[in-house]
Amino acid sequence: MKIYKAANYDEMSCKAANIISAQIIMKPDCVLGLATGSSPIGTYRQLVEWYEKGDLDFAAVTSVNLDEYQGLEGTHPQSYRYFMNENLFSHVNIAPEHTYLPNGAAADIEEECTHYDEIIQKLGGVDLQLLGLGHNGHIGFNEPDEAFAKGTHRVDLKESTIQANSRLFDSIDEVPRHALTMGIKTIMQAKKILVVVSGADKAEIVKQAFQGPVTPQVPASILQMHNDVTLVGDEAALSRLI
Ligand code: F6R
Repeated sequence: MKIYKAANYDEMSCKAANIISAQIIMKPDCVLGLATGSSPIGTYRQLVEWYEKGDLDFAAVTSVNLDEYQGLEGTHPQSYRYFMNENLFSHVNIAPEHTYLPNGAAADIEEECTHYDEIIQKLGGVDLQLLGLGHNGHIGFNEPDEAFAKGTHRVDLKESTIQANSRLFDSIDEVPRHALTMGIKTIMQAKKILVVVSGADKAEIVKQAFQGPVTPQVPASILQMHNDVTLVGDEAALSRLI
C-alpha cells in the first residue's frame, strides 16, 4: 500500500486529483469508480479546475458510483446522483449516459442490484475506485457485519451511519434507512483503489482499517488484501499509523 501524508484537506484533495488525472491521461476511456461524502468534494473541485483550464478531458470516461439511497429519485437534493451532478458531472464534459449510479428508486431492488453488477462487468471492470472511509470502517455502504458482502446489494443502514448522514437532511427522520451499494467483492475487483481520508476523528478507524486485523467488523480492513491501494490522508487522519 502506498501512503501519502498531506498537510491538510486541500493538499489531500490535490494529491488525490493528481492520481485520478494520471489515470484519465493514461487511459482516456477509463472506468472511474466514484464516491460521495465530504472526503472527495475537494478532489472533485480540483478535477473541475483542471478541466476548466483545459488540462483534463472526460469525453471518453465512464463512471460508476459506489452507492445510492433507496427511495430517493436522482432529483432529490440528498440523492447521490444529485451530489455527483452538483460536484462533478455538470461541470465537466463526461457524457451523462456514461455516468452510472445504482437506481435507488427502482421498483425491483434485487433486479437493480444484479443489473448494476452486469453494467460494471460489461464495462470491463473499474480501473480506479475512489473511496472514503466511514467512522465504523464502512466502504460504500458496506457496514460492519459477520461476513464480507459480495456483489451489489441492498443494506440496512446502521444507526451510527444514519446519525452521521443526518447532518445533510432537515431532520433525522428524513434519512433513508436503506441503500444500494457495490459489495466488497465489486470494490476489491477494481484494478486500483484510492482512499481519501481527513480529520482527527478518522485517525482511530484509519489505524484499525490499515494496520489492524482483516475482519468484516471493519469492512475497509479487506483493502489490506488488495495489491494496488493508495491511501491519501491529511496529517490528522494518519496520525495514529505507525
Ligand atoms: C459515499 C460512501 C461512504 C463515504 C463514507 C465517508 O459514497 O460510499 O462510504 O465514503 O461514509 O464519508 P465522509 O467522506 O463524508 O466522511
